[in-house]
This record gives sequence, structure tokens and C-alpha cells, in this order.
Amino acid sequence: MRENRRILLFMLILALAVGFVGCSDDDDDDPVSPVDEDFAAVENYLDWTKTDYVVYPGNAAKLDAAHEGQDPSVVRVVYQNDDAVIADTMYAEGSIIFKEMFRWGADGAKDYVARMAMVKRASDFNPDNNNWEWLVLNDAGDGIADQGADLMDGACNSCHAVATGDVGTDYVFAHPSEHVVTAGDEFSYFTEVKANGTVLETEQGAGDFLGQAHGVDDPDLMRDIIVYQAGAQYFDEEFPIGATFLKEVHYADGSYANDGAGAWTAMVKRGGDYDPTHGDWEYFMINPETEAVDRGKIQMCIDCHAAAPNDGGGDYIFNHPNLGF
Ligand code: HEC
Ligand code: HEC
Repeated sequence: MRENRRILLFMLILALAVGFVGCSDDDDDDPVSPVDEDFAAVENYLDWTKTDYVVYPGNAAKLDAAHEGQDPSVVRVVYQNDDAVIADTMYAEGSIIFKEMFRWGADGAKDYVARMAMVKRASDFNPDNNNWEWLVLNDAGDGIADQGADLMDGACNSCHAVATGDVGTDYVFAHPSEHVVTAGDEFSYFTEVKANGTVLETEQGAGDFLGQAHGVDDPDLMRDIIVYQAGAQYFDEEFPIGATFLKEVHYADGSYANDGAGAWTAMVKRGGDYDPTHGDWEYFMINPETEAVDRGKIQMCIDCHAAAPNDGGGDYIFNHPNLGF
């Protein structure tokens, strides 16, 4: 009697299991996917076109808690495959946009936080969200951990839906990103950079590339070179969008020469299409005493900083330790 019940139960479990497998098989047959469970479609993403390299505070407001967007040590790189072409504000079927999030290891290796993609499928897949499929790789990066139309309970769909008009195209955010320090907020932005950034080096006296700039004529002045983000590393000959450098020229007691004039100079990798022939950097001069600001494509800064490669630096930034040079 007892044995029979056990067999019945076993049969029931078996039936459920078979039914379950049958169901998921049906799902797989549904619209032809360029990815499906086929990791091969995305595994060579590093050979695709790189469209973005960005660090906090780039896109921080749009990201909210997603994609480690509030962590200055994490960078985000976006790639797209050759099929990712836009016609009539829609991406073509077969488009794949891939994004990796990682920290730079000491040896220049990538310490991955997450890898994910969006895949444009046929018109009957996720029709309410322009036919995008979302997928996330496993931690090892050698397979797909999860994929579907409603990943993260639909959060991928709902947040990416805002990427239209000025913000992006067809659920894909605009690339390259642009990071604009809000006008009027410059002093508080660079005060935060000074408070939370890292001093890479403190220099004093003349320098090979300095000429008369940055207060070198006064031997008592010190120059602190500060980088805001741990993720601001030189990679593929550029710094990530959002990368922020501040140079503070001061006396040993923290006071400034000339009532603060020229005490803070700064560079922000603005990206977008701001100044493509000069690396899309925006230059700043801030007087920390009066809070007066001058900013823009300041030609004399550009002309001298263009010599950075001769110093072993690159992308308009002179050579300092721990920047990936
Ligand atoms: C709260 C908003 C938000 C959520 C939730 C979100 N994303 Fe994003 N995602 C963004 C923003 C903003 C970008 C722009 C790039 C950047 O700066 O990181 C982006 C970029 C991407 C990109 C590169 C293409 C592009 O649009 O820029 C992919 C791929 C991506 N996200 C996948 C996903 C997946 C998969 C999920 C769900 C598991 C997801 N995202 C959830 C906001 C979000
Ligand atoms: C004549 C050359 C010269 C000019 C002009 C110049 N700089 Fe520099 N700058 C340097 C050198 C050299 C360094 C390297 C650090 C040092 O030796 O002080 C530097 C460092 C910096 C740094 C730290 C990042 C880095 O590249 O090391 C910032 C930020 C900076 N300068 C901003 C500016 C701004 C803003 C202007 C224009 C208002 C400007 N600089 C004009 C030569 C120049």
C-alpha cells in the first residue's frame, strides 16, 4: 500500500518534470533568436565596435542604483556588433549591444562585476518593448546565466524605455556618453573631488613641460595632482568619460598665492561630441577663495597638455603613477 503511494508520487513528480521541460522547449522554439541559449553569438564581443568607456559620475542620475553607476571604482564599457545599425530610429533585427562593468586590477586586468547585453529579436518577441531580449552572463563569463523579455522583473525594459529622443534611440542610451559639470555647481563639484579624490603626486618647483604655468616660479608652492575616481585609468589610449583631474597649487600651510587666482585648475573628460579633435576634455580654472569659474575649450591649456605623450602620459594627461600609463 505504502509502496504504491510512493510509486504514484514518483510518477506524479516525473509527469510534472516532463511537463516543465516540455514547456521550456516550446519557449525555445519561439521567434528565431540570434542568441537563444547560444553563448557563441556574444562571446567575441571584444572584437566589436567600442562605443563607450565611462566612469562615475557619468550617467549617474540616469543609472540610479543600476549598473554600479554610483561606484567611482567601477567602469562601464559598451560594444556593439556590426548588425547594430539604426534605420528610422529603430535598431535592426540581430543588433546586439554588450556592456561590461569591471574594476581595474593592479596589473591592468579586468576584475568583472557584471557582463550583460540586449539583443534585437523578431517582431513577435517582447512587442511592448521594441522586441528587445535582455541577457546576463554568468560570473565566469563563459555562458549565459539568464535571458528573456522580462529580466529583473521588467526593470531592464522600464528603465531603458526612457532612452529615446535626446536620451537615446530605441531603448539604447546615447553613446558616447557626455558628462557635463552643471553650470553654477563647479565649486561644489571640485570641492567634492578634492575631498574624495586621491592625490597621485605632489610636485614642487620647475618641471620639464611646465614653462611658466601652474605657479612654478614660486619655489614654495606645491602642486597636488588629484584624480577623482579609482576607475579613471588610461585604456585604449583614452580616459573614461567622467574622469576628473584637479590640480591644487598651494603653500605648505594650505593657503593660496594671489588670493586664490589660478589655485585650482581642472580637467573633466566630457565626451559626447564636445571637442573631438582634442580628446573631448573640458578645462576649468576655479578660484577657491572667490569661487569664480572660467571653463571651456581653453586653448592655452590644450596646447601645452597636447605634449603629455612626450612625458610618458597620454590623452592630454601628463605622466603620474597609478593611472595605467
Ligand atoms: C535604472 C536604470 C537601468 C536599469 C534598471 C537597467 N539599465 Fe542598462 N543602462 C542604463 C543606462 C543609463 C545605461 C547607459 C550606459 C551607462 O552609462 O552605463 C545602460 C546601458 C546598458 C547597456 C548598453 C546599451 C545602452 O543602452 O547604453 C546594456 C546592454 C544594458 N544597459 C543592459 C541592461 C540589462 C540587461 C538590464 C537588466 C538586467 C539593465 N540594463 C537594467 C540604465 C539601466
Ligand atoms: C605650459 C604648459 C601647461 C599649461 C599652459 C597648462 N598646463 Fe596643466 N599641467 C602641465 C604639466 C607639465 C602638468 C603635470 C603636473 C606638474 O608638473 O605640475 C600639468 C598638470 C595639470 C593637471 C593635472 C593632470 C595632468 O595632466 O597632470 C590639470 C588638471 C591641469 N594641468 C589643468 C590645466 C588647465 C585647466 C590649464 C589651463 C588653464 C593648464 N593646465 C595649463 C602643463 C601645463
